[in-house]
Amino acid sequence: MNLEYARFAMGKRFDEAPFGIDHGPFLTGAYAPVFDEKVLEDLEVEGEIPADLNGVYLRNGPDQRFEPKAMHHPFDGDGMLFNAHFNNGKVTIRNKWVRTEGWQKEDQTGHSEYWGIMSSLKESQSQPMKDTANTDVIGHAGVAVASWYLAGEPYLVDPITLETLGPAPYTAAPGYGFSAHPKVDEVTGDLLYFDYFHQAPHMTYGVVGPDKQLKHHVEIPLPGNRLPHDMAVTEHYSILHDLPVWHCEEAYAAGRHKILFNADTPARFGVIPRFGKTEELKWFEFSPCFLYHVVNSWEEGDEIVMVACRFMPVINEDGSIDEARTAKNIAELRMDARLWEYRMNLATGEGKEKCLNPDFNVEFPSYDSSRTGRFTQWGYLVDHDPDTLHWIGIRKFNTTTGECVGSWTDDPIHAWYNEPWFAPADNPESEDHGYVVTFVWNDLTKEQQLQIFDARDISKGPIARVKMPIRVPQGFHACWMAANRIGKAA
Ligand SMILES: [Fe+2]
Repeated sequence: MNLEYARFAMGKRFDEAPFGIDHGPFLTGAYAPVFDEKVLEDLEVEGEIPADLNGVYLRNGPDQRFEPKAMHHPFDGDGMLFNAHFNNGKVTIRNKWVRTEGWQKEDQTGHSEYWGIMSSLKESQSQPMKDTANTDVIGHAGVAVASWYLAGEPYLVDPITLETLGPAPYTAAPGYGFSAHPKVDEVTGDLLYFDYFHQAPHMTYGVVGPDKQLKHHVEIPLPGNRLPHDMAVTEHYSILHDLPVWHCEEAYAAGRHKILFNADTPARFGVIPRFGKTEELKWFEFSPCFLYHVVNSWEEGDEIVMVACRFMPVINEDGSIDEARTAKNIAELRMDARLWEYRMNLATGEGKEKCLNPDFNVEFPSYDSSRTGRFTQWGYLVDHDPDTLHWIGIRKFNTTTGECVGSWTDDPIHAWYNEPWFAPADNPESEDHGYVVTFVWNDLTKEQQLQIFDARDISKGPIARVKMPIRVPQGFHACWMAANRIGKAA
């Protein structure tokens, strides 16, 4: 076991360890996988599920099916979706693995066939890593789409039954995969995405229509291999990320994964018209940083505004950036992020940035996704335990002032929150007229709940707690699909 790597998570409980502890901490305790696929109905509810909450909350995450071959990284597990389908005051909860090509192969043999991210490239040279579709889930063209952080094949899934429908048809050609975080413009039905890869040009950008057909696809040349994670969109533009984080080429050639942070290289955001050509891309430079997730982006006159969670570089006593520790924190998901505003002026070429709130380490943002690419006043994020991948509460922020206007946790030590998502009420009277939905595990009481908050006032705590008989392992991303989007081409 790599003890140095495991140390930061050793304070967490190892009381569930279906594969023992030799594969590291991320298959134990709150991270331990579950193996049953369930349909849960008529569950006990404390409080009341609102009748005007109609649609489905979906959450993706890693759920390792078979004992791994080596040390396990939380990015490695097989993608498992959990959902909560709300219908007129009732809820049905389901969970199911995404039937990826790798999952089906291992289903035949009954054991792990792939190496994970912490195995050397030499060990895994005979076989690519398993594309697990375990990272994000979005709603597009009436179905759910499960995606993978290393830019893999998106899988289409029935958002209610969670049956895998198969790989997305728009990525059938080689090199047409996409990263974990495409964006859906719910007004036009377009899906905007980027793909990235080790060889030049290192990135491509594309648009898929509501008919699931690829409408646009262009190369985005970058100066070298990069590890971008997210992008942003506005009504007319897409914003692509070129961040100073990349694979160490020497280590890569020697068969090892090692990422570098370069403090001498600016963070760059490239603004391209939604259907623009490569040469129409305009780059804006900002202070060096990594950036996992964007909250939302919109246009204000000539300016593109992007609100995001900026991963804070580690600063030495002399004020310089500690590149090695910054890279290590990024690789090990020790999140230290602040809400940040970037402004890019398309007329003057000027870029401005500012911290919106220095006080809270927050990430995994959500907002009203029916307004993707349009101004949103409110963001709903999770509080981070800075030492490991553990989200200890939720917070609501004003995206203009950065003010935290509400927060809640059941227990900042023992509660494990998932990425919450905002769900508008059926007939919303304001942007935050609706609900915030999330799964919460308590590792002390061993209770699993689905919690529903009034988005206008999350500080009063959940208005409904749905008691669940199975644990939801700590996962990654989630989304909300309103009832009128399910099965519809938009
Ligand atoms: Fe992500």
